[in-house]
Amino acid sequence: MPSGVSLSSTKSPGKKAVKKPFKIAFTYNLKPENISKDDPDAEFYAEFDTPHTIEGIRKAIEANGYEVIMVEANESAFDKFRQHRDEIGLVFNFSEAVSNGLDREAHIPAMLEILKLPYTGPAPLAAAMILDKARAKEVWSYHGVPNAAFQLFRSKDEPLKAGLSFPLIVKPTSEGSSTGIRDSSVVKNEKELRSRVAEILHDFEQPALVEKFLPGREFTVSLIGNGDKLESLPLVEVNFESFPKGVNRIDSYEAKWVWDDPSNPIDAVICPAKVDSALGKKVVDVAKRAFLAIGCRDWARVDVRLDDKGEPYVIEINCPVGLLPDPKENSRMPTAALAAGIGFSQLLGKIISTALERCGKV
Ligand SMILES: Nc1ncnc2c1ncn2[C@@H]1O[C@H](COP(=O)(O)OP(=O)(O)O)[C@@H](O)[C@H]1O
Ligand SMILES: [Mg+2]
Repeated sequence: MPSGVSLSSTKSPGKKAVKKPFKIAFTYNLKPENISKDDPDAEFYAEFDTPHTIEGIRKAIEANGYEVIMVEANESAFDKFRQHRDEIGLVFNFSEAVSNGLDREAHIPAMLEILKLPYTGPAPLAAAMILDKARAKEVWSYHGVPNAAFQLFRSKDEPLKAGLSFPLIVKPTSEGSSTGIRDSSVVKNEKELRSRVAEILHDFEQPALVEKFLPGREFTVSLIGNGDKLESLPLVEVNFESFPKGVNRIDSYEAKWVWDDPSNPIDAVICPAKVDSALGKKVVDVAKRAFLAIGCRDWARVDVRLDDKGEPYVIEINCPVGLLPDPKENSRMPTAALAAGIGFSQLLGKIISTALERCGKV
């Protein structure tokens, strides 16, 4: 903890400054109790966390010497932030949403902007764009950051634009944690395309994002920092060899949440990825450019995939990044940190100190 940080010293002539304790507010989403993997709503809550995970993160923040104020990301969050406004030095924003909606990742950042409280991660505009994969791709294209050619489908019958050829991948535009990404998302002909687009439109009530399928290796790049101090942790590669035989080589919902079960784990990732330094540099470079172009801050995880010529393309950015405290759970950013000798608590400490530095608080 940065000692002697005075957030709201009340100075008046002749009186000593009163230092209030420096606290971190930790805002998060809890999965509803007793939701099993087979529950029809399990996919919807895939991004929310269990009490065990939330408790692990709280302890990790405390291990850095901070006092923690817990704020569940719900409709009461604004009042709770306001109530503790003078004590909060920084908000560790780990929330996905307050309610449903395509701008949901911006809900908590918007509250914190209103209250003028500093927080980790992107401001509302960037937070909303991170979730909207099509909008993010438009920004990357403008800035020359390589990303797969795409088309947005608002109805299943729109003609496929020239230049997009099979195979393609069909995804919900504004989801995460591989929600809506199944083995059947890779489509090889018109019939499969129309059928999968119709399913996405129906199930998620949002446009379907159809992208050129990048057949190469897949990496995820964990980034911490800002501006020219942005740094990458060791690369994580998705280990498609560990997937069941015959399935498409994509990091699908099944791959993240069904096949890789702590009671029967698969080696879903390789870390550090075996790459030569030229490729490693190119992959990290694309990830950093993607991060900066969107206006991300402090930390994020960027998915990158290679095309048939081995060139890297950004797939998407994640922030907040999934963090599971138990190394056995193969959570990607903690795995990358561990490969660099950075334990879970230290990782949380680094993210927090990066944000404090950006906000001029250290
Ligand atoms: N254009 C693409 N080409 C090949 N595979 C892709 C493409 N887009 C996504 N994928 C696969 O689908 C997975 C999930 O897609 P992604 O956009 O990262 O969604 P999520 O936000 O749910 O993680 C990726 O990790 C990758 O394996
Ligand atoms: Mg992803």
